[in-house]
Amino acid sequence: MIPYGRQSINNEDIAAVVASLKSDWLTTGPLVTEFEIALEKVVGAPCVTVSSGTAALHCAYAAIGLGPGDEVITPPITFIATQATAALFGATIVFADVQTDTANIDPIAVEAAITPRTKAIVAVDYAGHPADLDELREIADRHSIYLIEDAAHSIGSTYKGRPVGSIADITTFSFFPTKNMTTSEGGAVASIHPALLEKAKRFSRQGLVRNQSEFKIRSEGAWHQEVHEFGLNYRLPDVLCALGISQLKRLQTFKAQRREAFESYCEILHGIQNLELPTKRDYVDPMWHLFPIRVPAKRRREVFDKLRKQEFLVQVNYIPANLHPVFASQGYRASDTPEALSFYEQEISLPMMANSEILSTEYFVKIQNSLFQILGPGSKS
Ligand SMILES: Cc1ncc(COP(=O)(O)O)c(C=O)c1O
Repeated sequence: MIPYGRQSINNEDIAAVVASLKSDWLTTGPLVTEFEIALEKVVGAPCVTVSSGTAALHCAYAAIGLGPGDEVITPPITFIATQATAALFGATIVFADVQTDTANIDPIAVEAAITPRTKAIVAVDYAGHPADLDELREIADRHSIYLIEDAAHSIGSTYKGRPVGSIADITTFSFFPTKNMTTSEGGAVASIHPALLEKAKRFSRQGLVRNQSEFKIRSEGAWHQEVHEFGLNYRLPDVLCALGISQLKRLQTFKAQRREAFESYCEILHGIQNLELPTKRDYVDPMWHLFPIRVPAKRRREVFDKLRKQEFLVQVNYIPANLHPVFASQGYRASDTPEALSFYEQEISLPMMANSEILSTEYFVKIQNSLFQILGPGSKS
């Protein structure tokens, strides 16, 4: 079976991990800093590594001091971690609908959702395609609120020539195996504001204060450390940073391979009846994490099942967050964000990875034939 996403691991990655296992450091050691410096060069802002994309979001919300009474505006087309980590701080989740073409949060819907309690706008770069960051930035600045970018899908993407990571107040990344690069589990927080990054870092490292100038009680010796605000252990160990450093060296190769796959799909699937290809706006250069096609809602289940019966382990990304029982039981309705609901009802993610499994003419001919047979001429919706 060919999954919708898979890691790309080579001998250099393996050697890097083995070397780190032979070093003195298993958890926080020199490779953490090395990985963070290498990440900064790619994303255009200083970074802190953490143990997952979920942890990165949790740290981002901690950094802005999110709490009960605050509202956070989010899109429904995302993995639930975008909302769960904010809800766990007692914040109220507000859903803004998505754009029809990109499935990214719609700035017009965001503007309409702002209230005096709004603390942050959270954009998700669905499938790797950056959201409309300039418009969102302008709204955030006008209302003196934060712009957070959940870039779990989009490390390596650029928006109007600027790297994802250098635009929002805080950007979060995931290094889960299906993502653009991996550390197995892992993530990072980037921020253009040093003070926010420091808060995120402290939250990810148990809230420990080790800088003498900040101590509130008298230090009795070199062991002294203090906690001013609670934190958690979200550290990414050296062993996984070793993999991250090695993967990051091939990020541009991965991007080119994913672009090649995207272009091959567009070429071979163009013109198939009842099949809509993903859009790319001309001011972005995405690193494609997913290849989301759309088929008529009433045929989505059939197409999905038929592809899965063959060798294509396709996926649906995502069940809208406001459709989950955890939100439905609080009175949220997915029908309040009709574009997101309609996108969900039509979407299927075809395999997308920087991997020889899909980077061959044979693969594209096979999937073209399958989709042509299922949806081709005569297949009326
Ligand atoms: C948009 C989005 N946000 C957050 C996450 C959470 O990342 P992780 O799985 O690394 O915790 C994911 C991963 O599935 C995601 O797709």
